[in-house]
Amino acid sequence: MADKKIIAVIGATGSQGGGLANAILNDPNGGFACRAVTRKVDGDKAKALKSKGAEVVKADLDDVESLKKAFAGAYGVYAVTNFWEHFSAEKEKAQAKNIADAAKAAGVKHVIWSTLEDTRKLMKADDKRMPMLQEKYRVPHFDAKAEANAYFSGLPVTYLVTSFYWDNFYLFGLGPKKGADGKYSWTLPLGNAKVAGIAAEDIGGAAYGIFKAGQQYIGKTVGIVGENLTVQQMADKLAKGLGIGAVSYNAVEPDAYRKFGFPGADELGNMFQIYRDFESAVLAARSEQTTKQLNPKLQSFENWLAAHKAEVQKSTEPVPA
Ligand SMILES: NC(=O)c1ccc[n+]([C@@H]2O[C@H](COP(=O)([O-])OP(=O)(O)OC[C@H]3O[C@@H](n4cnc5c(N)ncnc54)[C@H](OP(=O)(O)O)[C@@H]3O)[C@@H](O)[C@H]2O)c1
Repeated sequence: MADKKIIAVIGATGSQGGGLANAILNDPNGGFACRAVTRKVDGDKAKALKSKGAEVVKADLDDVESLKKAFAGAYGVYAVTNFWEHFSAEKEKAQAKNIADAAKAAGVKHVIWSTLEDTRKLMKADDKRMPMLQEKYRVPHFDAKAEANAYFSGLPVTYLVTSFYWDNFYLFGLGPKKGADGKYSWTLPLGNAKVAGIAAEDIGGAAYGIFKAGQQYIGKTVGIVGENLTVQQMADKLAKGLGIGAVSYNAVEPDAYRKFGFPGADELGNMFQIYRDFESAVLAARSEQTTKQLNPKLQSFENWLAAHKAEVQKSTEPVPA
């Protein structure tokens, strides 16, 4: 352990950081050690990481001093914030600033900041096709991360532009649903656009490739993706993979989706509209080839589905009233 480069992994108990923690822990001769950063050092996920050989340390993204301690002596930091815990762009930026300030204070040699594009750059400020949210954002969880890029300048940083997790289909109920007639349908406002998607755990695998490559990616922006697929293509693969006959795609308009009323419907409506209306810009910002080089275990949609068949199948069932 002593001669290994320590990576302080924020979000090690979650999807992105968990993928990186596992990549480090599953490669004991890779030269890196995993320091899992969490608020819940006694939680089951922290304990599981510890049992696999991770050092577990306590810190909170709202507390810069706790982050300075968590980063002390580390070679690298994997920096991710969780917008969906609070839904606030301003809080997300404040947490990112805390990470950057703490990384500077600790003198780390490589930070990977998990970011997304500034969707406001894709259209004029007076464009009326989608509402502004939280006063000045189109897609707050994208735009806030992009604004936060500036906090990391001056650090040896790699800006990692991530993609839509396929895992959202079962984690957040965004997948197809079985109707009372036993038929499956999938409502999304994505038209015929291809969506840049990825298995969530593969983001961490790509981040591990970036840490291993080191100097090559410092100061660079790297866009990662598993596969670009339309909803219809994913619907056909899901129907086949789950053995459920067919999944019909109900392509609604983003305006209708924003009005569905669940928490974050407006935010997701805007995000999906960005994917639909600015398909070429979104796809161009991510490279499957680079992702595969960074993470040779990168999964296709079909591979991901085979590994998560049970969860996806369960998520198609109607929620009991
Ligand atoms: N879903 C998607 O398709 C998608 C795609 C691209 C980007 N993203 C972005 O991914 C981010 C979420 O990452 P994820 O999916 O890996 O998260 P996740 O699985 O929901 O887990 C959240 C992680 O963040 C940690 N965390 C949250 N608040 C913290 C705080 N105040 N202090 C310390 N740790 C904190 C949690 O640690 P503890 O609870 O253990 O402390 C946990 O490990 C979001 O900002 C989202 O915008 C999502």
